[in-house]
Amino acid sequence: VAQDIINNVKLKCCGIKVLYKNKQGITMCGIVGYIGFRDAYPILIQGLKRLEYRGYDSAGVALINNEGVMNVYKEKGKVSNLEALTSQRDISGQIGIAHTRWATHGEPSAINAHPHVSQSGRLALVHNGIIENYSNLKILLEKEGYTFKSSTDTEVLVQLIEYMQKKYDKSLENATIMALRMVVGAYAIAVIDKNCPDKIVVARKSSPLVIGIGADHKEFFIASDALPIVEYTKQMVYLNDNEVALLKIGKKIEINNLNYEDITPEVKEVNISLESLEKGGFEHFMLKEIYDQPRCMADCMRGRLLLNEKRIVLSTINMHRERLMKAERFIIVACGTSWHAGLIGKQLIEQWANIPVEVEYASEFRYRNPVISPDDVVIAISQSGETADTLAAFQLAKENKAMCFGIVNVVGSSIARASDTGIYIHVGPEIGVASTKAFTGQVTVLTLFALALGHERGTISKEEYESTIEELGNIPEKIKSVLAKDEEIKDIARSLTYAENALYMGRGFNYPVALEGALKLKEISYIHAEGYPAAEMKHGPIALIDENMPVVFVATHHQLYKKIISNIEEVKARNGRIIAVVTEGDEAVKEIAEATIEVPSTLASLAPLLSAIPLQLIAYHVAVEKGLNVDQPRNLAKSVTVE
Ligand code: AGP
Ligand code: GLU
Repeated sequence: VAQDIINNVKLKCCGIKVLYKNKQGITMCGIVGYIGFRDAYPILIQGLKRLEYRGYDSAGVALINNEGVMNVYKEKGKVSNLEALTSQRDISGQIGIAHTRWATHGEPSAINAHPHVSQSGRLALVHNGIIENYSNLKILLEKEGYTFKSSTDTEVLVQLIEYMQKKYDKSLENATIMALRMVVGAYAIAVIDKNCPDKIVVARKSSPLVIGIGADHKEFFIASDALPIVEYTKQMVYLNDNEVALLKIGKKIEINNLNYEDITPEVKEVNISLESLEKGGFEHFMLKEIYDQPRCMADCMRGRLLLNEKRIVLSTINMHRERLMKAERFIIVACGTSWHAGLIGKQLIEQWANIPVEVEYASEFRYRNPVISPDDVVIAISQSGETADTLAAFQLAKENKAMCFGIVNVVGSSIARASDTGIYIHVGPEIGVASTKAFTGQVTVLTLFALALGHERGTISKEEYESTIEELGNIPEKIKSVLAKDEEIKDIARSLTYAENALYMGRGFNYPVALEGALKLKEISYIHAEGYPAAEMKHGPIALIDENMPVVFVATHHQLYKKIISNIEEVKARNGRIIAVVTEGDEAVKEIAEATIEVPSTLASLAPLLSAIPLQLIAYHVAVEKGLNVDQPRNLAKSVTVE
């Protein structure tokens, strides 16, 4: 019966298909929940603080008090703002859920903060992830008389669960399963029902969720990771994808999958320190973020790269097709790492969409009199979305009536708000000052954009479009295999520890990667490093080469491979020390270089997504070896809000 209902609703719901599948989690916001015999509020607030490093644009809490009243408090900003808001309010209750948000849909605001409450006020829900088909579900629910307060994807889910609960007279857990069967996307959720204050229902798919079990099942804790739970219990269940768990006071956990099959919970004993948990077991955020990249890439492509259909869907192109089609020129403005991503974007857009692209340092662009026409599209690339120079360059573009297109990580940031349209990179909060996962995220978004634009304009062949899409789908796995070489890379990095200078060389798509590798080394290991297009070497830098000069070549197997070998020979002839990033199976460079790091073979246009990884790791290991502060290097700030 349930299947029939679901099929029926699915049909109504415009035939939603599973667009992009992946098994990766997303670690954006933080979820906390408690049910038991203690006051929930202090546990929830403390838990949110522990998770705040994951994202912190807003926070909220829902509690059911002893009279069965559900109190929901939400506030923009940090958890401390939420605490201030609740200081004079009723925060009693032994059941509650809470959330710190890192927005993906809808700007950070109190209304968009979680928990979201259902139409009747009966259910409250917190969510980490993205509901890809939320707009279709919203249309369905609006037809059924539901109205929406927020602009999030999440609110549809709480309404959908209530719809199932009411229409088919289902328990909270069954209504949740029914609703989730209609959802495409990623989620870790917790739902409470003020009519049933003795239970919490939680579920996950692709986003993390941990359940802590108190003695005799008299209390349960839930959280996005074990951090908020470790001080209360060591008995934990890590929920798997497509599982829905019912936590009921005094009863063992009941888990079902989305096919209503019973699953036996696997209880683990967790003995880890708080500090190591926060960094996911990594020594530094930078390393964690480097290792996050396979997952981030999958998140970034989620719902955009339709592998089965060999197609790319970007809402910005659907919404602004005409304007983007008549663009005469793209001007990319950015700083630092984001500028390097822009240089790759230029090559991609010119190659596939055949539109001229200029890449400008935002700080220079804003202080000359650049020629900007209303037919130009100015793309600002920024992880933080707050870089003062990039924002000012964008404003200049706006004054000149160009279209302002943002490629940003932080949702609701100043650059995001100043954009007419754009694409979020969705890689989650980046905490290490040295940008890593944001770079690969930016390059991924630029790749998707250039491919989609080329396809719309008919300037890329069907064959190249489809084969690139297919290969993009392989990139997360290929990054994993590069990360598996970390020990080898660490050994190679050691040889750079005492260098005073280093050169980084690449050609074609790998030239900006060389610039990025040099920037990473400079920022965190304080070694002077310069990136160059390899063929430029003979016009000056070659004078620097002697037996003390390490030269890192990015020499993967692409069109300029033969040419770069000649450049490597030139360094060898002058006794330079050569480290090279090469394609698996390479023989020619191995013969010449002191050390090589192999990356899997891929298309030339996608090479940066793999070749950047060893360079990030080299910089990281050199800095660690030198005993430096990797996550907060001297003189640098994560977000440069001064010009
Ligand atoms: C990257 O490692 C640097 N910390 C820095 O160059 C950074 O990329 C630059 O400040 C731009 O920041 P944004 O992407 O937040 O605008
Ligand atoms: N997609 C949801 C939102 O934008 C959840 C984001 C998160 O994981 O914090 O509200």
